[in-house]
Amino acid sequence: MKKLIVYGTRTGTTENCAMKIKADMDFQDVEVMNLKAGNRPDLSNYDTVIIGTPIYMGKINGKVKSFLLKNHDVLMQKNIHFFVCGLAHGAEGVELFRKQISEDLFNHAIQVRQLGSEIHPERLNPLYRVIINKIVESEKPVIGLLDTEIDEFSKGI
Ligand SMILES: Cc1cc2nc3c(=O)[nH]c(=O)nc-3n(C[C@H](O)[C@H](O)[C@H](O)COP(=O)(O)O)c2cc1C
Repeated sequence: MKKLIVYGTRTGTTENCAMKIKADMDFQDVEVMNLKAGNRPDLSNYDTVIIGTPIYMGKINGKVKSFLLKNHDVLMQKNIHFFVCGLAHGAEGVELFRKQISEDLFNHAIQVRQLGSEIHPERLNPLYRVIINKIVESEKPVIGLLDTEIDEFSKGI
């Protein structure tokens, strides 16, 4: 059966991550869809749905949030996997995500994994650029996608 990777993104990191996961799943029937305006996947075509979101100011992507709300009952019948992009790695990033989605969807997921982050200041609006520069200066976070985590996530699908 076919697999679908859906994601929301502001500056492209979560899309890069989705493409890496797809590349890891060579020879499998995998489609990838950005949940931007107008893209509404027909979930009846898939038995497995992989859902990715970035975190901004502690919040998940709005398109992903709406997708989860609208498709809650269908997703409860599928194999689902979540991945999260952001500066907060590991359990901290997963916890930010958990707090914003329904408990039963979170518990239904086969895996939820934090896969790292990228920063693309040139793709951000001026306010977000100032905020992220301050965060990077003061907290000196580790920036970059976590290839080992991505490989483990892909293996788990
Ligand atoms: C203004 C701003 C706020 C952010 N807030 C958070 C946050 O609260 N938690 C977090 O883990 N990462 C945070 N990040 C990091 C982003 O999640 C990270 O850059 C991610 O890779 C962006 O994904 P995207 O390119 O798919 O939009 C923030 C980034 C920016 C620019």
